[in-house]
Amino acid sequence: MKENLIIAIDGYSSTGKSSMSKIIAKNLGYTHIDSGAMYRAVTLYAFQHQYIVDNKIDEQALITNLSDIKIEFKQDLTTQKNLTFLNGENVEADIRTMKVSKMVSPISEIPAVRDYCVALQQQMGEKGGIVMDGRDIGTTVFPHADIKIFVTASPEVRAQRRFLEYQQQGKDIPLVEVLKNVNERDYIDSHRTYSPLRKADDAIEVDNSNMNLEETVNKVMEIINSKK
Ligand code: DC
Repeated sequence: MKENLIIAIDGYSSTGKSSMSKIIAKNLGYTHIDSGAMYRAVTLYAFQHQYIVDNKIDEQALITNLSDIKIEFKQDLTTQKNLTFLNGENVEADIRTMKVSKMVSPISEIPAVRDYCVALQQQMGEKGGIVMDGRDIGTTVFPHADIKIFVTASPEVRAQRRFLEYQQQGKDIPLVEVLKNVNERDYIDSHRTYSPLRKADDAIEVDNSNMNLEETVNKVMEIINSKK
């Protein structure tokens, strides 16, 4: 049996990719890497430096300063949660706001941003023993990943899930606005020319519209165990 696999979990936003990847990584004793957190951290950095003003991105300024961005993941020892650090600062909560969610897709369309994040992802995953979730892990980041899963669910189900998450965080964002964001991100993510969101030919699709987190994890673990 092969050790230290590379497991790629791609799919649409709010399909629960990160939650399931975290549990699967724990089950296997692997490291979980949330690649979307990197694009979110770059977006936050662009806001912090006024490279995004009135929804307009100063691409050139951002590209020139990409090498100034240092992204790290650390584990909170009490909660076991993965925390995202941007230039030494814990930004886990700041990268999950609606403000960042609205601009992260256009930021992640910029080829230089993608090259920067992909190189970091390849470096973090090169030794294997990882579960990495994102949009292009099985197609671009690790095209030779040992196991590739592509997660889908209807936009309405995904918006409802994200809406409930916001509610739990005390954020009152109307469901229609959340659905609009889900649809917009789906469109941009799957229509960009450079490394779009698409199912790899050898990925196994899991539609979890009618599954809860535990059922989805069980389904993916079954696939992993059958392929190991
Ligand atoms: O997984 P997420 O919703 O936190 O990702 C946020 C955005 O980052 C998503 O809308 C598109 C982008 N992204 C990407 O382009 N490629 C990835 N591998 C991961 C995320």
